[in-house]
Amino acid sequence: MCSSSSSQHDLASTRHAASLASVYRLVDRQLSPLGLRAMNVLDPRRGDTVLDVGCGAGGTLHQLSERIGPKGRVIGVDIAPALVSIAEERCKDDPSIELIRADAQTLAMQTGCLDRIYSRFGVMGFANPTAAFGNFRRLLRPGARLAFCCWRTFEENELDYFPVKAAGRIHDVRETPFSFSDPSAVRFLLENTGFTQIAFEAFDANVSCGDLNATVEVLLSVGALGQIVREKTAHRSEVEPLLREALAARSDTAHVELKAAVWIVSAHADRS
Ligand SMILES: C[S@@+](CC[C@H](N)C(=O)[O-])C[C@H]1O[C@@H](n2cnc3c(N)ncnc32)[C@H](O)[C@@H]1O
Repeated sequence: MCSSSSSQHDLASTRHAASLASVYRLVDRQLSPLGLRAMNVLDPRRGDTVLDVGCGAGGTLHQLSERIGPKGRVIGVDIAPALVSIAEERCKDDPSIELIRADAQTLAMQTGCLDRIYSRFGVMGFANPTAAFGNFRRLLRPGARLAFCCWRTFEENELDYFPVKAAGRIHDVRETPFSFSDPSAVRFLLENTGFTQIAFEAFDANVSCGDLNATVEVLLSVGALGQIVREKTAHRSEVEPLLREALAARSDTAHVELKAAVWIVSAHADRS
């Protein structure tokens, strides 16, 4: 990546982190059913050491900690300082949770030190996915499990498609959030970085972060439309009334639901 595209990427990441930081509680409410499904597949055991990749503001860290108990250890890693600070504050009373601000692709921990690796939508934006998953394979003890959720296609995700269509911005959608939507490409990646027993579960759920105001706030901050609005903040004033009107016309404004379509991906570190 050349330095100007790298600095654009850094700027986009910083803006994304700031947006997520502004709505993290609502996002936790919205994404929780999806993340919990992946956590069930991960099946962490009492006493396990678990890494949460791209843990963001840390909403999943307590959920993991409850499952592994006081003798286990949850390590959250995220590259965004603003989000790690929020996660540290939220988790300061749980001694089994530790936060690391680092690039997960090159996270330097001891080989074979982990029993589980988990992620809720934190693995789709790596500049070098092969390096990242190769590193995850190295960190897991042989036979140990990885599970994460990632988005299926934009068209399958009403959560993204509906607001972008309402705003008339279909042609501005970026590919990154959907970069793991093709299971054959993800299988190829995992097979080539030392994983076996690779499985994909297509999971659909109607998700909600609350009423119309909460939903508008979240959709203008994160997800496919949030990404478009962040890149040109002037869009926000044009887009907001269109979005509000379309959402109000389709559902109960006290509780807005949209369908999310994800893959729950799981795999084991090979034993060789
Ligand atoms: C879509 S957010 C998900 C956050 C959180 N898991 C959640 O569900 O709320 C993706 C997260 O991955 C983080 N991230 C992106 N690239 C990363 C990298 N190379 N290393 C560590 N974290 C990364 C971002 O900072 C962001 O917090």
